[in-house]
Amino acid sequence: MSRRPFVAGNWKMHKTAPEAAAFVRAFAGKVPEGVDVAVCPPFTALAAAVEAARRTEVAVYAQNMHQAEKGAFTGEVSAGMLLDAGVDGVLIGHSERRQFFGETDEGVNEKALRAHAAGLRVILAVGETAEEREAALTEIVLERQVRAGLDGLSAKQVAATTIAYEPVWAIGTGLTATPEIAQAAHAFIRGLVEGAHGVAERVRIQYGGSVKPDNAAELFARPDIDGGLIGGASLDPADLAAIASAAAG
Ligand code: PGA
Repeated sequence: MSRRPFVAGNWKMHKTAPEAAAFVRAFAGKVPEGVDVAVCPPFTALAAAVEAARRTEVAVYAQNMHQAEKGAFTGEVSAGMLLDAGVDGVLIGHSERRQFFGETDEGVNEKALRAHAAGLRVILAVGETAEEREAALTEIVLERQVRAGLDGLSAKQVAATTIAYEPVWAIGTGLTATPEIAQAAHAFIRGLVEGAHGVAERVRIQYGGSVKPDNAAELFARPDIDGGLIGGASLDPADLAAIASAAAG
């Protein structure tokens, strides 16, 4: 079964509302056929990006959400609020959230359950640190993160989840995983999804970590790499379009 590739840009803490709208307008005209594309603006730029993305192929995802429906959680945003802002989906479990904001596998799972229940699309990010890879713990860490992250989701919800494999040592460092290393991790993750949920052929697995226009094609050529989650190179519409074209083949 062939999976439609998916390229998403994670802008992190970059771009104001007018900058987001200008990006979407420039990018929308360059999106090739045969690939799904999304941008993940910061909360304050979501509405502007949604407005600019109307009647285009560009989906808009938030970078995070809270797992509770509502309540006394100062500074947080719920799934319902994201839907209200018109967004299509949400990125959950990015390593920067895990590293700097104390997100746990359990919290990531609660977010995934809530997001799916609300009807948001989900990108679930997983990946090992440099220390974990050096200690030969990569598969143990990935297994823990993938199993926990997807726990309690229906097979249909798992199939509709995009998993982003992002080795922490490759994020923002220029140290892109080799296509061999990335493919091995993706195949391992796909095997886990098959064992636990039986939908491995349908689930899309993006690679993330220093993907650039000049290294995207060799990564995306691997059988289990279904596109990418792009940080730094997603801030420029021409770069993100070039990466999307590499995924489209
Ligand atoms: P990078 O970030 O492309 O800048 O390495 C990827 C990510 O954090 O999603």
